Amino acid sequence: MLEPIKLLVLHGPNLNMTGFREPDVYGKATLEEINDRIQKHAKEVGAEVRILQSNHEGTLIDAIQEHRSWADGIIVNPGGLTHTSVTLRDALTSVRLPVVEVHLSNVHAREEFRRHSMIAPITVGQIVGFGPNAYLLAITALANMQKEQI
Ligand code: DQA
Repeated sequence: MLEPIKLLVLHGPNLNMTGFREPDVYGKATLEEINDRIQKHAKEVGAEVRILQSNHEGTLIDAIQEHRSWADGIIVNPGGLTHTSVTLRDALTSVRLPVVEVHLSNVHAREEFRRHSMIAPITVGQIVGFGPNAYLLAITALANMQKEQI
């Protein structure tokens, strides 16, 4: 049997407010509900996930570095750091793991500044605009990638 793929799921700043903040943009599901769906889906596809939300760039970077040997891949919704953070991008690059960038909203259909991602060029792909399903699609994509490599 295939070893479960190990995935680190990171939610960046303000994602703890999901469900409350701008529900017309980000949906009504709370982060806790989204995390439950992530865990349930992970089980279904045979993945093991660790989930962390932080409002602090350094905490996200510490988690990336700490999981560099444990994780087979990283799923990250960097929130507003998407558009600004060189250091988050450098951290993701340095661990040499496949990264999928996800966003609840379709960042390309919003303000101009949200169209640019510092992170996207170092990812295997970006999934945007599907609400919480973006995380589930990312888990499936990384799990399939692992299977295809065998
Ligand atoms: C977001 C999109 C970002 O532009 C924004 O700053 C967020 C949430 C999303 O999931 O749609 O905080 O990452």
